Amino acid sequence: MSRNTLRTIRKRYEDDEPLTMLTAYDAPIARLVDRGGVDMILVGDSAGHNHLGYEDTMPVTMDEAVSNTAAVVRGTENAFVIGDMPFGSYGASMEQSVENASRFMKEAGADAVKLETAPGGETTIELIERFTELGIPVQGHLGLTPQHMNQLGGAVVQGREGPDSEYADLLVETAQRLEEAGVFTLVIEATTEAVAKRVSESVDVPTIGIGAGRYTDGQVLVVNDVLGLGGEGYSLAKEYVNLDEIIEDAISEFVGDVREGRFPTAANAYEPMDAE
Ligand code: KIV
Ligand code: NA
Repeated sequence: MSRNTLRTIRKRYEDDEPLTMLTAYDAPIARLVDRGGVDMILVGDSAGHNHLGYEDTMPVTMDEAVSNTAAVVRGTENAFVIGDMPFGSYGASMEQSVENASRFMKEAGADAVKLETAPGGETTIELIERFTELGIPVQGHLGLTPQHMNQLGGAVVQGREGPDSEYADLLVETAQRLEEAGVFTLVIEATTEAVAKRVSESVDVPTIGIGAGRYTDGQVLVVNDVLGLGGEGYSLAKEYVNLDEIIEDAISEFVGDVREGRFPTAANAYEPMDAE
């Protein structure tokens, strides 16, 4: 196998095969995610709380994002790797935005970038057009966009007014503008299922849902939520294993072994070269 490209992703979509994406923030987890066979890995700004120990996504810097993305690229062979542009790294000017998007490609070796668009968001649509023209593939992101949490009043589910609401109309229109601007996939986060379904049916690019129900063209989850790593995960995710428990048990066993003399043994010690 070789690394997935826009063509592999497009082909899966055209063949009606659901697309899979997980986040990763470092090489060892990315390697396992890659071996598990996902189509795409998103180096999310969710690194803020899932990897870097911040409260949320807001404080993540370009240097951190680029460093995490480079590690994920080094750890993987097949997955298409997307660098998530952190808050404040785009939108100040075209120049600033292009320079930062280019860092993901040049310094980290990413295959694409992702950025968030608020409903109707003109600025990011222009950026996406420019990035696409320059050869930087872009994944769009609509619905609950965590970088807007100070306006949304937190992680509030979007589109509760229903699929025929003004909000849903605007979301569809924005999705279509993003499609025209050239996004290759579109993340829809935390909208009602009916709204996500309507958006998915309104565009001819693959939609990738998180907390967006059953009718998107693919699914994305935060890898920590899938692995039970780092405390309580997203309530609408699915936890396949509880690594917190497994790791905690392993660590206390190590502590117990050292304190009670079971580790190290002779097998864990170097002998002089001429021994035996
Ligand atoms: O940062 C992230 O993990 C994301 C996904 C939830 C889509 O943006
Ligand atoms: Na994100």
